Amino acid sequence: MGNRAILLIIGGGIAAYKSLELIRHLRQRGYAVQPILTKAGTEFVTPLSVSALAGGKVFQDLFSLSDESEMGHIELSRSADLVVVAPATADLMAKLAAGHANDLASTALLATDKAVLMAPAMNLRMWNHATTQRNFALLQKDGILFVGPNDGEMACGEFGPGRMAEPGEIVAAIERMFDTLAGPLAGKTALVTAGPTREPLDPVRFISNRSSGKQGYAIAHALAQAGAATTLVSGPVERDAPSRVKLLRVETAREMLSACESVLPVDVAICTAAVADWRPEIATDQKLKRKKGSPPPVITLAENPDILAALSHARPRPALVVGFAAETENVVAYAREKRAAKGCDWIVANDVSTDTGTVGGESNRVHLLTADKVEDWPLLDKTEVARRLVARIAETLKARNA
Ligand code: C5P
Repeated sequence: MGNRAILLIIGGGIAAYKSLELIRHLRQRGYAVQPILTKAGTEFVTPLSVSALAGGKVFQDLFSLSDESEMGHIELSRSADLVVVAPATADLMAKLAAGHANDLASTALLATDKAVLMAPAMNLRMWNHATTQRNFALLQKDGILFVGPNDGEMACGEFGPGRMAEPGEIVAAIERMFDTLAGPLAGKTALVTAGPTREPLDPVRFISNRSSGKQGYAIAHALAQAGAATTLVSGPVERDAPSRVKLLRVETAREMLSACESVLPVDVAICTAAVADWRPEIATDQKLKRKKGSPPPVITLAENPDILAALSHARPRPALVVGFAAETENVVAYAREKRAAKGCDWIVANDVSTDTGTVGGESNRVHLLTADKVEDWPLLDKTEVARRLVARIAETLKARNA
């Protein structure tokens, strides 16, 4: 894959010597490489060797008059198709996580509108430090992608995680990112709801359900892989955000609705969440107490908002709204009614009668109901259901735009 430009930020770490090799690999594959070398980076590799391998100028200084007149730092950060930071030091990660912009590298990272890939490299204690791990989690949440670090012997003689990924691994990660950028949903935005909701009774008790979130997380992952800028609004489940997916964690149905509304407008909305239909009308501030001789409390329920219906009637409405229907009998007939009642475009209907093991399980047998037909899909792993559904979404949007 050639003719793509990469802005390569080389941080100050012993692994910087591998970045010279990385530049060579990238240029051999036809990529243009525009390097930025940090001040600390110059302690490990010289601007001359970087520039000789990259075949052009190395930018180093935020306040260089000559550099700024050739190419301003904002333009520099946007002229490439992708930004790669290798080695990404603890300092560079911290700067981006906190939003600092006090040198050319951090300014370019903050100003770019392109995808960013970081290849961390540092001493294992620095990598394992709570602050670095916090920054790592924050950056992932912000959509920054990572390759490595690998386990192994370090230049300082210690052994553990912190070695920069090898140049070949970084090139492979870059090529995967370019595949995504060229994916069938590149340029589209998607919203997915997943997991259960929790509806509080008091500060310690709630009403919820057994939804695992697996199907919704798999769909968000597949959408992002296909290139869509994807937000996942998830109720409480023990799952990490799929890569390149923005995760908004919520608890209640009402929080889920407002998180979804904050993401609109989107091109595609897919509601897989098992939203509690009702919530306790009153959630007490203090824990409900058992009183000797008193009857148990009576819980009055109030109706929760229907998020799928709300998204189906949003203005502007997503081009495609997909709901899920979990039924234990008359699966297709009930799903057809649901499609009409909610106003969504498609319903993915599945049989959740206890013998199917669908809820919390690994696989799903679904029926896809569109405006004019019903497709019966075979028993598939939930990740495969996600891939097929996303492929159908991409085809449909393409046909509409054609
Ligand atoms: O009405 P029912 O719960 O069977 O509908 C299922 C579909 O509606 C799913 O797509 C689910 O995510 C969505 N839903 C919702 N908000 C609700 C109830 C269901 O988005 N309050």
